[in-house]
Amino acid sequence: MAKEIKTIGVLTSGGDAPGMNAAIRAVVRVAIARGIKVKGIKKGYQGLLNEEIVELEAKDVSDMIQRGGTILGTARCLEFKTVEGQEKGAEVCRKHGIDGIVVIGGDGSYRGAQALSRQGINTIGLPGTIDLDIACTEYTIGFDTAVNTAMEAIDKVKDTSSSHERCSIVEVMGRNAGYIALWCGIANGAEDILLPEKYDFDEQKIINNIIDRRRKGKTHHIIINAEGIGHSTSMARRIEAATGIETRATILGHMQRGGNPSAKDRFTASIMGAKAVDTLLAGETNKVIGLQHGEFVAIDIEEALAMTKGIDEYEIEVAKLLSV
Ligand code: ADP
Ligand code: F6P
Repeated sequence: MAKEIKTIGVLTSGGDAPGMNAAIRAVVRVAIARGIKVKGIKKGYQGLLNEEIVELEAKDVSDMIQRGGTILGTARCLEFKTVEGQEKGAEVCRKHGIDGIVVIGGDGSYRGAQALSRQGINTIGLPGTIDLDIACTEYTIGFDTAVNTAMEAIDKVKDTSSSHERCSIVEVMGRNAGYIALWCGIANGAEDILLPEKYDFDEQKIINNIIDRRRKGKTHHIIINAEGIGHSTSMARRIEAATGIETRATILGHMQRGGNPSAKDRFTASIMGAKAVDTLLAGETNKVIGLQHGEFVAIDIEEALAMTKGIDEYEIEVAKLLSV
């Protein structure tokens, strides 16, 4: 028989992402509307182990849907990767009367959720990461805001790059995934896009491309380089030496993780947060909420973690066709 849920906890874990606050707000307000108490767990699994737990009322999450970051704070917690840490986490939940938890984070955080579920605490994951690298879902909370932040920054780099007739390498985040790079590459009309999924380490091709386009009269050359490839500064030095064209590297870094979430992130986080609560209340555990074929669904964590996804070949081809 499904365990009766009276109190749920919510935590954010791993790297923060714009829209996490909107997800927390949705969890709190939907749970309260359903007659359930909510406890906010600060600083991810670390805060759970340290019992940094506060009760959250509907008013505690007002005026926050538009804010970047996460009001609960987030952390990476090595101790939670151990069975002892996971047992302690479940014990803390029992002590605080927490029957179920919503974990907002990336797939590392899902493994923690899976562990808690094995310890008897009903757990549901929500995809919160700017990287879009969670295979079971077409969308992850934070991606849209991050990609727009990066796009606006790259537009600015392009202005000065054109004025000085330079080549500019702009490095975007994404860990080992190239989604932010591909989206910016297309949205910014970049001349080259370097994706970890496709990179062949043949720098000569990039150099030839720069020389060829300069001959054809292009004044700028924007290369979007994914963090998963990295080394933008040394790449810029080598490209300048080989082409004779002044080359600069800009690493956008953590600015991509901040800022007010876009409408898409606020909306998606709100629906996913609500769905997480309703999935818990339906007696489910060990699931993650994802967007599949445009529909919000609950997927088994084991299944979700076993899935893989790659960058769409057609999108890569279009990016190349557009960058003439
Ligand atoms: P993300 O959730 O963004 O992928 P991480 O991979 O850093 O970020 O994971 C966030 C946290 O999730 C880790 O610091 C750890 O506390 C927890 N976690 C990650 N992997 C595991 C695991 N295998 N077992 C238990 N907890 C884990
Ligand atoms: O997962 C989000 C992300 O911003 C990645 O794009 C990046 O590789 C990583 O986190 C950076 O982590 P940290 O904030 O710990 O430097």
